[in-house]
Amino acid sequence: MMLKAEKEQKKRLKYTAIGVTVMILLIIGYSLHKPLPEGFTVTKWDRAVMHVVEPALRVAYYYPSRMFSKASNMVYWTRGALNILSKTLGLLVDTQGQIDIKWHEWNGTPVKVYRPIDNRTSTDGAVIFIHGGGFALGNVEMYDSLVERMAFEMKTLFISVEYRLSPETVFPGGILDCEAAIDYFFDNASIQFGVNTSKIVIMGDSAGGNLATVIAQRRAARNASPALAGQVLIYPLLQMADMQTISYRYFHSRLSGYALVDPESVAYYYMFYAGIDMDEKAYLIPSVISNGHVAKDLKPEVEEMMSHRIVIESTRNYRNHSISERWEIERNFEAQDLMRPFLTNPDFSPLMRKDLSNLPPTMVLTCEFDVLRDEGLIYAQRLEAAGVPTTTINYENGFHAMLNFHSELHEASKSVEDIEQWTLNVINNA
Ligand SMILES: *[C@@H]1O[C@H](CO)[C@@H](O)[C@H](O)[C@H]1NC(C)=O
Ligand SMILES: *[C@@H]1O[C@H](CO)[C@@H](O)[C@H](O)[C@H]1NC(C)=O
Ligand SMILES: *[C@@H]1O[C@H](CO)[C@@H](O)[C@H](O)[C@H]1NC(C)=O
Ligand SMILES: *[C@@H]1O[C@H](CO)[C@@H](O)[C@H](O)[C@H]1NC(C)=O
Repeated sequence: MMLKAEKEQKKRLKYTAIGVTVMILLIIGYSLHKPLPEGFTVTKWDRAVMHVVEPALRVAYYYPSRMFSKASNMVYWTRGALNILSKTLGLLVDTQGQIDIKWHEWNGTPVKVYRPIDNRTSTDGAVIFIHGGGFALGNVEMYDSLVERMAFEMKTLFISVEYRLSPETVFPGGILDCEAAIDYFFDNASIQFGVNTSKIVIMGDSAGGNLATVIAQRRAARNASPALAGQVLIYPLLQMADMQTISYRYFHSRLSGYALVDPESVAYYYMFYAGIDMDEKAYLIPSVISNGHVAKDLKPEVEEMMSHRIVIESTRNYRNHSISERWEIERNFEAQDLMRPFLTNPDFSPLMRKDLSNLPPTMVLTCEFDVLRDEGLIYAQRLEAAGVPTTTINYENGFHAMLNFHSELHEASKSVEDIEQWTLNVINNA
């Protein structure tokens, strides 16, 4: 057993480390100051926080992507930097000892379970959470404060899945890891945790939103029973066959240089996930972000699945800021050959799934300052057209990955409340 003094010492060390990190962040924030785009988060507090966070993320994420000669080194650096930065987040979340947290291993996949201790007041539903990070970054621990907070506020059991990351484990490894754990959970949740398995919701952000979408689609396709009660897709990554949607073009014309998820990063991370050695193939990126990787014969299918973007293009104008026209496609036949197996494969690009009719009630969250905004909106429209009860919220002042700052930013905290409300409603009406 650890001695009390030793424990205190450890705690002091932890707080010192956090203090030092915060100091460094403040210094970075001050020295790399850059005005935020108009409308980027609303309240004064949020903007003050973002003036520190955004430059820190630029250092962790954006500059390195241009610094390393090997793309894989960029991934490992960013992974490490985010793991450290994230320790300064969510410190104020207090669940009053009401959530019991334990690791399990289910069919080979590590899973963390967040269980409300008082089973007389908790719901009998559950949420499966799949974290984001471009299939290559992040882990269960990084999302601890968010998941624990939701388990506490919703009085609902959460599980968070530690799937393996790329480039070490590539498509479809992450999907299979999640499914192995989820199958176990459906088989045992009732006996082990008193969960009614008709009331299980799947939830994921960014690349985790991709995995959640894919898993929900695969369960629907094989009529898995019991069905999922709902899915919550938080700024999900759903396709890479059109990297010139209006939200991508908005980034190019107005957001370039900020620590937001940028087109090049989407291409790098998605292609690493596809199993392509981006240390060797980095020269394909300029062509890919122009859509030069889409072979001619795939175009009709892509156009059909993306057709709802017309609605978005005609109704959304980003506060009347002009958006650049589509620019010339830089064709690359090598990129076309490499990406052919993936672009219209719904397990990789779930926006390309044709039949969406059997899916559970869905909540899609998108953010204005996000290259992925349009694919989320398009998927929501396609779900609605397929008769799936769908709730769509676009956060006009939100940005990609804002949920990682749920305890620091009002805008992000509000989105967590929206998610909790919707999910509880689905659980209680399942
Ligand atoms: C709550 O937990 C107690 C102790 O583990 C158990 O005896 C009881 O059956 C549980 N109640 C419900 C509603 O699951
Ligand atoms: C989980 O469910 C499977 C399949 O029903 C069963 O074989 C296994 O014993 C269960 N595990 C536990 C710990 O209950
Ligand atoms: C954008 O332009 C339209 C038409 O000119 C106008 O009605 C609307 O108020 C403008 N929106 C903003 C946010 O400026
Ligand atoms: C589980 O929930 C469903 C849907 O609300 C309900 O019909 C069923 O009776 C519940 N099962 C148990 C064992 O409580």
